[in-house]
Amino acid sequence: MYYCIDSLRSWTEFNLSDQQKSATFRRIASRLLDKYGRKSILREFRERFRPSLSNNLIDSSHDLKQFWESAHVSGAHLWISGTPPKEIYERLIIEKLISVKGLSILNVGVGEGYCEMDLVERGQLVDSLDVCDRAISKVKSYIRQGFLDARDLPSRSYDLVIHHLVAQHMTHEDLREQIRQLLRALKSDGLLAMQFASSQSVAGLVVSDREEHVVMSGGVLRSKDFMKDLIESCSGSVMEFFDKEAWMNSDCQYISAHITSNQS
Ligand SMILES: C[S@@+](CC[C@H](N)C(=O)[O-])C[C@H]1O[C@@H](n2cnc3c(N)ncnc32)[C@H](O)[C@@H]1O
Repeated sequence: MYYCIDSLRSWTEFNLSDQQKSATFRRIASRLLDKYGRKSILREFRERFRPSLSNNLIDSSHDLKQFWESAHVSGAHLWISGTPPKEIYERLIIEKLISVKGLSILNVGVGEGYCEMDLVERGQLVDSLDVCDRAISKVKSYIRQGFLDARDLPSRSYDLVIHHLVAQHMTHEDLREQIRQLLRALKSDGLLAMQFASSQSVAGLVVSDREEHVVMSGGVLRSKDFMKDLIESCSGSVMEFFDKEAWMNSDCQYISAHITSNQS
């Protein structure tokens, strides 16, 4: 989760390099120019002044699905996030691909649904996968179909699968099973564009998925080698990894991967 307000705060409170300052400036500017970015900023301010709404969401007595249901109900922005679509396309390096209209696209992890709305406006055919009914209801007037279980996805159907700010909220086993299903659902020349979180400071670090609160709060960090092995175990190949920005004020670095399917 990457918020404009955090970017602003980081700029003023932390010692940023010129390169980080210019990346921060570009991110803020693009959010202000993007209608979804403006919505994100307004929501962020509202949530900051109503912090009680976001309290107690990480409760180990909740299982993960319940956690997301309550996050969607309360509109707790910190966990739901509504990344402006342009920022997602840029981070996943898919701007060029989606400039072609009429693609069959699956978005995994609806959040606020901005990505679905934007892709449909761009003339794409969009399906969604989320663990929550409530998330799917937000976008049902835009999408062709919503899925709550990746095993129900149609085979060999998607030109592109978008997976942004979801992997770090999943256990290794859940992620492995989901990737296997997503690769089955990809067309043979399709692309799975996925962001995951990694450690900036320790190469090769993999943060355990054993504690529920770590998973819920998106704290599962994975190294590129770990992800490569996991993807290959699902009959997929990583074409390229892209080191993206660090999440300010933490050890977390975003990495994007372009993945293809070898499943027959
Ligand atoms: C942090 S939000 C990210 C939203 C959006 N993709 C973005 O980048 O702004 C996580 C979203 O993924 C959904 N989600 C959580 N675990 C999931 C899973 N295992 N499979 C699919 N969706 C999941 C949540 O319900 C929520 O809508």
